[in-house]
Amino acid sequence: MAAGIDDIAIYIPRLFVDARDFAKARGMDPDKLQRGLGVSKMAIVDTNQDPACMAANACLRLMERNKISPKDVGRLYVATESSLDESKAMNSYVIGMLEQIYGDGSFEHCGGIECKFACVSGSYALYDNSNWIRAGEAEGKYAIVVVSDIAKYDLGSSGEYTQGAGAVAMLLNDNPRIMTFDPKITSTSIKNEYDFYRPFGKETPIVHGQYSNLLYMIQIKKALMTYKEKALSSGLIKLNEGETILDYIDFVNMHLPYSNMGKKALAYLLRHEWRNLPRWKKIIDKMGMQEPIPKDPRGTIESVLADEEFMQKDHQFTKIFTMTEEFQEIYDSKLASSLIASRMVGNLYTASLYMGFRSCLEFEFQKGTDLEEKRFGFGSYGSGSSAMVFSGRIMPTYKEMVRDMNLESEIGNRIKISLEEYEEIHENKRGPTENILDSKKEFVLVEIENKPEMRGQRTYVFRE
Ligand code: HMG
Repeated sequence: MAAGIDDIAIYIPRLFVDARDFAKARGMDPDKLQRGLGVSKMAIVDTNQDPACMAANACLRLMERNKISPKDVGRLYVATESSLDESKAMNSYVIGMLEQIYGDGSFEHCGGIECKFACVSGSYALYDNSNWIRAGEAEGKYAIVVVSDIAKYDLGSSGEYTQGAGAVAMLLNDNPRIMTFDPKITSTSIKNEYDFYRPFGKETPIVHGQYSNLLYMIQIKKALMTYKEKALSSGLIKLNEGETILDYIDFVNMHLPYSNMGKKALAYLLRHEWRNLPRWKKIIDKMGMQEPIPKDPRGTIESVLADEEFMQKDHQFTKIFTMTEEFQEIYDSKLASSLIASRMVGNLYTASLYMGFRSCLEFEFQKGTDLEEKRFGFGSYGSGSSAMVFSGRIMPTYKEMVRDMNLESEIGNRIKISLEEYEEIHENKRGPTENILDSKKEFVLVEIENKPEMRGQRTYVFRE
């Protein structure tokens, strides 16, 4: 039985911080954000928004648009790393909100849990729910996987310019209108790491930025190697002499903590895949520079990062490589459209990869590209750390789903906030009712209980 994505809905908070204002306030060159990292706006939650209400808002849009009732939904999973409780799962909050619309008890038989593994957990949730469908357990029902997060770092830290917030809800079934996942090919890599983590009680993560960048690429490369073995042994992809697996992936979607990470990762994977192919010699000759090798080629990530001479040469090599027409051609045709949304909203953690997929569908459709039967490859990464590589094929029915996708109108009228307002929200100086926006047709948070016997209970309402 097949399984895949039937529809996608998004919810992005309308408040944003502009990268130029941010750079000015932090005494940085705005070009570092806009050109260096590819960040131009960061979506910020209002005081009455949290990851649960963003998830519920994305779900409601998905259900209303597809005229789905709760009895059609067999599973509702929420993947997040912005958990609200150590025990109570976020899908229960979401169901509570949705039942305000669909009636008390309407989701009574909808199973589900909250999943956690930094940014990669949404991909594990998609995989597990696809397998539930493939196993025939769904019996004609849908699964909904919602990825929802607030990417928040310490004020003044280097992570602060890679913030963002939002949710993506995906409808899964056995006859998907957008994309069918390639079967028996999903591949993972995992290692106990501390590149980015958030200890209990701490609102912001502890991050080793450059370490996390390198680990992300290494882990995805490892998962890609297993994907390649599976693709070849299962006969899904057949390689001719001088070809690489990436030649058979028409569009590449990467986890996007910031949009230029997609470019960095593509360059890293292409270097790895092309290194032993005849085309590489031509590229090296044109570049006029040999690929640098670290002093200790079998060393640890720490030893590679500490090898300053290698790091500096490798950086220079990547820069020159990304300027070659061979790289540019792949970048423009396979990756660029997926990066547009990230520039507009920032890091959405679990939701970033899927926002990138949405972005690619919308902007390729606008360009007039025919996506039917095209293979999309996904590189999902979660700190801590695990990667997942998988792929899917676009269905002939995709056009009817993608035609009306419009990021700007779906986000709605965006409001730029000042750095002072941003910092007040960031430092939790305003309560839930001191919101900036007037919300309509969405769930908002109105109260968090403080009484000891009810501490932490959240009340949400739907604003008509
Ligand atoms: P940084 O160290 O301050 O930045 O922070 P940098 O010095 O690496 O510079 C960034 C880029 O800007 C570089 O481009 C510079 O050259 C360029 P590159 O060489 O890499 O192509 N640049 C300029 N460009 C134009 N004009 C200028 C200029 N100056 C510099 N004047 C870092 C960057 C990402 C490390 C930081 O923001 C950070 O720590 N962010 C949080 C961690 C993160 O996002 N890591 C990404 C990989 S791990 C991951 O994705 C998982 C995650 O999503 C969490 C999860 O899984 O849950 C984070």
